[in-house]
Amino acid sequence: MSEGPLVLGIETSCDETGVGIVRGHQLLADAVASSVEEHARFGGVVPEVASRAHLEAMVPTIERACETAGVRLHDVDAIAVTSGPGLAGALLVGVAAAKSLALGLGKPIYGVNHLAAHVAVDQLEHGPLPEPCLALLVSGGHSSLLRVEDVTVGVDPMGATIDDAAGEAFDKVARLLGLPFPGGPHIDRAAASGSSVAIDFPRGLTSRRDLERHRFDFSFSGLKTAVARWVEAQQRAGATIDVPDVAASFQEAVCDVLTRKALDAAVSEGIEDILIGGGVAANSRLRAMAVERATARGIRVRVPRPGLCTDNGAMVAALGAELVTRGRTPSRLDLRADSSQPITTVVA
Ligand code: KG4
Ligand code: ZN
Repeated sequence: MSEGPLVLGIETSCDETGVGIVRGHQLLADAVASSVEEHARFGGVVPEVASRAHLEAMVPTIERACETAGVRLHDVDAIAVTSGPGLAGALLVGVAAAKSLALGLGKPIYGVNHLAAHVAVDQLEHGPLPEPCLALLVSGGHSSLLRVEDVTVGVDPMGATIDDAAGEAFDKVARLLGLPFPGGPHIDRAAASGSSVAIDFPRGLTSRRDLERHRFDFSFSGLKTAVARWVEAQQRAGATIDVPDVAASFQEAVCDVLTRKALDAAVSEGIEDILIGGGVAANSRLRAMAVERATARGIRVRVPRPGLCTDNGAMVAALGAELVTRGRTPSRLDLRADSSQPITTVVA
């Protein structure tokens, strides 16, 4: 029998209704209902559509998670829920559901930070987090470099995107290439048969001058524009667009900057473990490049399996279980969803 508190986690910050159940570091259930197909024709997540979908999916997803885990709601020791950052209306649905459960069951509630949960989820796969570790979080809504001493106490932001998030760049470039939303997985697949050196796309914020002010920050909007210009120029010239080549060259530019800066940050802090999380961490080239470059410098890399990288409830439950284990104070029952919850606030 495995050890640790039994925690149910709820995630509704974007378009995934996630309910996960963990016991300590053991994953028991990870039920996810996604509304991604309802957003596809708009080319991005529509907040009102996402909120409505969460409302409809919430109870069935909780039931499915309990069934898979073989637990009754009364057995759980605590409820954890993403309180922010994320879409205000979407967060509200998860927080309201978590409060109802906590009140009805008489259990403590933890309103947790979505980004800290992306870090904590790795414990379900690779065991206790190395302390300190350097986290590279890359998704549709965020791209950050964080120094993590103790994920239940706080994380130190070292750098972040100054414009588009990495996943947003994947989604926008996919759209330019006529690939469906969300674009990341499609670019990843198309790139497999293309050449990463076909086109020399720019590496944002890597010039000597930029590094002085933005050593650990990212910028992807210039790259996206460069791809758009390249595609337009080809079309004007009547040439066909080699989608695999563009995808591979674009992906190479993103992964190059992400891994370069993450390694630089780890080395400068004397940290020997890098953890990559968020939806873009599912990218095959990013995973391979990170491992290759880190190994060459004696640094270890941990990346959860793709299903745990994209938004899910298990990550929230994983952080909740760690908070309970370390005796952290729960949130108050009147906690609020905070769409711009700062990265430094782990528990609301
Ligand atoms: O973490 P996530 O599920 O949701 C947010 O919090 O944003 O990340 C979704 C993002 C999308 O932009 C999607 O295109 C990207 O992650 N993504 C990928 C891959 N799989 C998902 N990007 C690149 N390569 C992938 N294989
Ligand atoms: Zn996320």
